Amino acid sequence: MPRLFTALEVPPHITEHLSILRGGLPGARWVEPENYHITLRFLGDVDDRTARTAVELLDGVAREPVRITLDALDAFGGDRPRTIFARVQPTPELTELQAEQERLVRRAGLAPEGRKFTPHITLARLRDVKAADVANWLAMRGGAPKLEYDANRFVLMSSRASTGGGPYVVEEAWPLGADWEEDHAEEARW
Ligand code: 2AM
Repeated sequence: MPRLFTALEVPPHITEHLSILRGGLPGARWVEPENYHITLRFLGDVDDRTARTAVELLDGVAREPVRITLDALDAFGGDRPRTIFARVQPTPELTELQAEQERLVRRAGLAPEGRKFTPHITLARLRDVKAADVANWLAMRGGAPKLEYDANRFVLMSSRASTGGGPYVVEEAWPLGADWEEDHAEEARW
């Protein structure tokens, strides 16, 4: 059973900027750039029926494209850093999209997500890396430019790796914005 999660993808020009940051921190396992994404809702190892129900409910999401702004680099884990990530601004549009998905997957039978939504793109996973070394790495790259793009779709991704980090496969995709309107216009015509 694959682990599933909904996510926003990262377009090539942003991926290129982020991938330049890889390196310079012994003990870091850098995420392959093609696997960069923003997790919206982690579903985990759900059964096929639950996955199908979640997909049907997610079909009902009808929203505009979401502006994504990456505004800083940071680390999760404090004294025992676990990951380095690019921080994504939690705008109302993004938070509402995530909250809608939270409601929908609960309707599909999933337990509520207890953790607060902190949108981010994981760049590296760390093991036994000193907090001071991470702080240094971040300080050296503190002036990383603000990056922005519009997310025009969200996806359901699967991962077979139990450790995270990919490879990921796009199982389903739902447009945000114009394509959504076109899809529905077509449905209406038919
Ligand atoms: P991360 O990048 O912050 O580690 C696929 O594993 C994606 O789902 C990753 O982006 C990962 O977030 C996220 N993820 C993995 N396990 C999770 C969990 N138990 N709860 C929430 N998100 C999780």
